[in-house]
Order: sequence, then structure tokens, then C-alpha cells
Amino acid sequence: MNTTVAMKQQIEQLRLTLNKHNHQYYVLDSPSVPDAEYDRLLNDLRELEKQYPELITADSPSQKVGAPPLSEFKKVTHQLAMLSLDNAFSEEEMQAFEKRLHDRLKDHPSFTYCCEPKLDGLAVSISYENGILVQAATRGDGYVGEDITHNVRTIKNVPLCLRGEDFPAQLEVRGEVFIPVAGFNQLNASQKALGQKVFANPRNAAAGSLRQLDSRITAKRPLLFNAYATGVVEQPKTALPDSHFERLMQLKQWGLTVSAETEQVEGVDACIAYYQRLAKKRERLAYEIDGVVFKVDQREWQEKLGFVARAPRWAIAQKFPAQEELTQLLDVEFQVGRTGAVTPVARLEPVFVGGVTVSNATLHNRDEIERLGVRIGDTVVIRRAGDVIPQIVSVVMEKRPEHTQAIHFPEYCPICQSKLETVEDKAVTRCTGGMACKAQRTEAIIHFASRKAMDIDGLGDKLIEQFVDLEWVKSPVDLFNLDMAKIAAMERMGEKSAANLMKALDAAKQTTLPKFIYSLGIREVGEATAANLANYFLTLDNIMSASEEELLEVNDVGVIVAKHVRRFFTDERNKVVVSDLVNRDKVGFTWPVIEKKAADEQPLKGKIFVITGTLSQMGRSEAKAALQALGAKVSGSVSSKTDYLVAGEKAGSKLTKAQALDITVLTEDGLVQLISE
Ligand code: IVH
Repeated sequence: MNTTVAMKQQIEQLRLTLNKHNHQYYVLDSPSVPDAEYDRLLNDLRELEKQYPELITADSPSQKVGAPPLSEFKKVTHQLAMLSLDNAFSEEEMQAFEKRLHDRLKDHPSFTYCCEPKLDGLAVSISYENGILVQAATRGDGYVGEDITHNVRTIKNVPLCLRGEDFPAQLEVRGEVFIPVAGFNQLNASQKALGQKVFANPRNAAAGSLRQLDSRITAKRPLLFNAYATGVVEQPKTALPDSHFERLMQLKQWGLTVSAETEQVEGVDACIAYYQRLAKKRERLAYEIDGVVFKVDQREWQEKLGFVARAPRWAIAQKFPAQEELTQLLDVEFQVGRTGAVTPVARLEPVFVGGVTVSNATLHNRDEIERLGVRIGDTVVIRRAGDVIPQIVSVVMEKRPEHTQAIHFPEYCPICQSKLETVEDKAVTRCTGGMACKAQRTEAIIHFASRKAMDIDGLGDKLIEQFVDLEWVKSPVDLFNLDMAKIAAMERMGEKSAANLMKALDAAKQTTLPKFIYSLGIREVGEATAANLANYFLTLDNIMSASEEELLEVNDVGVIVAKHVRRFFTDERNKVVVSDLVNRDKVGFTWPVIEKKAADEQPLKGKIFVITGTLSQMGRSEAKAALQALGAKVSGSVSSKTDYLVAGEKAGSKLTKAQALDITVLTEDGLVQLISE
């Protein structure tokens, strides 16, 4: 065999392997090799293709990097128009939709529907000839779109050649190009780092990425494609199924990605149930959806039903409540938190968004105000997605009235008038008043009494605020010297609630060392870190006298945490509070003695954990370190060997897989409990 033939075989083998891994990763959502291995194979292929450029083919996986820029977009006429969908906004409108179907097709018994998520991206048509991607186009006005073949070729999950053999000679696939949420966040972070414009939302980012003359830029964007229909289909060797759902499954066989949420159901009530299911799941999906789409499943019935104007009679989109709305910025107030951080809060003209009325939104910090370029009086885009706190996304400059006011970040604390200082990078501005600042005092005591700290029943935020206002409470110690008679005399209190509060305060004194440390509200010391400190040093005295070097020995304690702990315990005022809290003649907190555990007694020894999704109380590395300190192994992927999956917010495919394998799933709260036990 001559060298070129041998090379050709080797190259083809590499391409096959890479295509197989790609398919596993993007279409089946179950990676077969680590990313590094994939990169190595791709690199091998690139090296070989560099040596033998004559062997490069258009469908090689190496060709997903983009081509030299075009000078303009060519027009593409759609053989079959790309239509839009009618919307339904309520269950009644869904019922009315099905009624219209029955009215048209008089003796049809019941309808089967294909239910799909309505992805919020851009409609794209991709044409394959004999299994090879030959053209891709935008929807345009539905009849004429733009040729974006060069860009679509770079999308990671779009196959350049179809898998299998039994595909039609001509196959047009239609679907949505979008950017998943995680990719969007990364993209914006890197745009920001490069000093380039950040995108308002994933849809805009997808649109901007797809309309690039230079596909090398597109190749760097985390675009994906989800197929939801076929367009022109010619000469099928084996006829395509009549069921739309089955067709989508067939597309999946050929290597295209079809949403895992796609379902086939009977009757409109099942559609409504699907809508509710997806509405609940919406925040956990890896991509943004703005509703769901229902399609009469049989193509035969679709053809009988036909179209009105520009939308099919056989399909309907049921939209979720909008997550973005316009409103006016009325004012900005500055709030002081427990650690003295000063946060600008936007007061808004109340607006209904994401299912609730919103009248406040955080502006985070000085940088954010600058980034938005927002002024009081501006019309702003406000976004509330799921349970995430409302955000101001952007300013509508076209609507800026004549007399807007600049937002002045104060120099002095709005509560205690101490000087504010902007530390670290520009992001956080803090009040230097410490416990002399009433706001910080209040927040520190609220933290002390909160559920995960001392969990003092009946001591709510409002009551604490009153105690601080009345100057009855200046530090947690004062809580334990409150005058019951005075409390009973307060508005909305009484003998009984005062006595209950006293009882709860008394009960709180029996605690654990980790809880006690956590309750002190030392900056950056969350529950997991508090537990690690306690388990390492065993006693409060040891923690209080530990040097920075000694603190650094503790799992998950880095330079910053060590400094905060040290600074807290060298502050004379804090030392007095802590010693009064544990002093039997003053307050008298106690906890069980912690026994030093030998390495082979590590309670989680040999257990394998996987962490997925976003953790809100601690960072991933913090959680990992805490688990490792207890002897656990933390792995990156779920398998039958996994003992626990820790699922944070927006957990995705790993959670699904763990559930399928019947693996114990812990919430973040569950994890924290496990660690502190
Ligand atoms: S079907 C003839 N299915 O929604 C029906 N559209 O308003 C054509 N979209 O431009 C569309 N997800 O970009 C269909 N599962 C889905 C969809 C979907 C998102 C978009 C599509 C279209 C718009 C229609």
C-alpha cells in the first residue's frame, strides 16, 4: 500500500472517531471521552491534514473553524416558505385551538400532538444533498433569507455529513440556532474582558453571531442547533414517517440534535399538562425558551388543515409570561449590608414581569451603573427570570427624556455617615463604620439569629430592627439581656410571645461549634468553612489564636478567608462579644466537644461525589474541598459508581442521568447538613 492511501485511511479513521464523539457529546448528551482526548484527536487530524492538504474534505471535523470572510450575504429563496406560529396565552385559547381543529375535520376522533419547547433563537434552514451539508439560510421574511452556510458549518452540533445511509437525496432540516445560558455567560465574560460590547440576552448574542461575514468569529461563539421540522424532502429511499414526532426521531438518527423535551401526547389536556411541566422546568433547562409549541402530529391531517395567512392551522405556540419588560427608573437608593457593602437599589415604576410585579431591582455596584450608563428618569429593560432577583438589563436610549439625572454614588454611609471606601477592585464599596454603623449592626444580628445560624424562633428581621432602633441591642450579647416586660409591652407583642422569645433565646445557647463560628458572620466564612475550621482546630480558643499560616492549613481556607478570620479575631470589640457569648456568667453558649478524627475514620472515606449546577451558598471549590476533607472523592462525571450527586440550581443532564441510575441526589442544603454533621 502506498503512503497516500495509508494516510487517507488513517485520516478517515480519525474523522470517523471524531464524528462519533461529537455525536455522543452533542446529540446523545453523553460524552464518550474526556474533552482533552477529543482535542488530542482533533489535533492529530489537523497535523495530518497540514501535511496532506489535498486530502482535506469539506465535511472534515477540522473544518469547523471558519473560512475567510465574505463580502456580502447572498440571497436564498425558500422553496417552501418558512412560516410563523399563532400564539395562545391561556388554557382557554388552547381549548379553542383544538375546537377549531374539530370544527374543520368534523369526524376526527382525537388528535395526537407533538409537544416541543419553543427555543428563543433564530429559525434556520439547513439543506443536505446526499447527506452532505450544502446550504444553510436564515428565515428572512419567510420567502427569501440570507445564505449563512459558512457560519452554520461552524456550529458544533450541526453534522457536516449525515450518519447512516438511508437518508433522502435532498433533505432540508429546519430548526432554531441558539446559545445556551452557560455559553452566553462565558461569552459575555470574555467580551467584557476584551473590552468588547456585551450582549443583552442569549437571543441577541445568537443573532449577532450568526450574521457575521467572517465565520472565524462565528466559530468562536457557543452556538447550537435544534431541529424541529423538515422542509423540502426528495426521493426518500425509504419514505419518511407520517408522524412529525417520528420524523424528528429519524432526524436524530441521522445525527441532528432534537430537543430531549420533545414528546408525543394525546389530546389538548395533555398539551396543557406539558406546558405546566415545562414552565416549572424552564429555569433548569440549559437554554432559554419563551414558550412551547404544539403540532398536530400526523402530516396527513396537517395537510388537510393547511394554513391561514402566514401560520399553519395545525400548530400553535403557547407563550410563557414575558421575562423582560420596559419601565422607568424613578430613583436610586443605597443600602448597607452586613459586611458594610453599599448596594445601589433601583426604585422602579411597578411593572408586571416574569409573573410578579416588580418595583425594585439591584444595580449591584458602581461598575454596573457605569456599564449601563443609566440615569434617573430613563426607560430601562427589566428582567426577572424564575426566582432570580430582578435585573436591569439595559437602557432604552431612544426613550431618554430631556431631563434625566445622573446617579451619584455617595462618599459617606447613608446610615452612619462614616467614610465609604472602595476596595479590592472597583466592584465593592464599603462603609468603614463597622459595628458603629447601625445598618451593619442590624444585619449582623439578623444573620446571627437566622435559620442556618442560631435559628432563634420568633426573632424576625422586623423585631431585630426595632431592637436596634431602640438601642436595646448593639451586639448579639444584648439579645440575652433583653427585658421581657419591655418586650411584652411592644406593639404586636404580648406576654406569650415575649416568653416564647426568651425560651427560644435560651434554647439557642446549646449549639455546635460550627454553628457558633458561622453565626459570628465573619466575612467569607460560610457554613462549610465554619465546619472545616471547627473540625480542624477542635476548639474556639484554637481558632481565635490561629495565625494566618495555621489557618491556611485548613481545607478550603485561602489567603482571603484566612485574613478575614484573623482580622475578625484581632478586633478588640469582636473579642469582647465572643468571650461574653461563651462566658457562663454572661450568656453561656456551649457545645459538645469535637473529637479529633483519625484519617481512617473519615466519615465519607471512599464515597464518590459529583457536583453539578450552581451552588448559591458556597463555591464549587469550597464544596469540593470540604468533601475531600471528609475523605470523599469528587468526580466530574456521573456513573454507576457515583454515590451522591450534589445538584445546585439549573442542574442539567447530570441530574437526569443520576436519577436514571437511582443515585442519591443531595440539594445544597443537604450537602451543608452532611458536612456539618
Ligand atoms: S415550528 C410552520 N417549532 O418560533 C411552523 N418553531 O413563531 C414553523 N420556534 O420562527 C415553526 N421553536 O424560529 C417551530 N419547536 C419549534 C420552535 C419554533 C422555536 C420559532 C421559530 C419560528 C417561530 C415561529
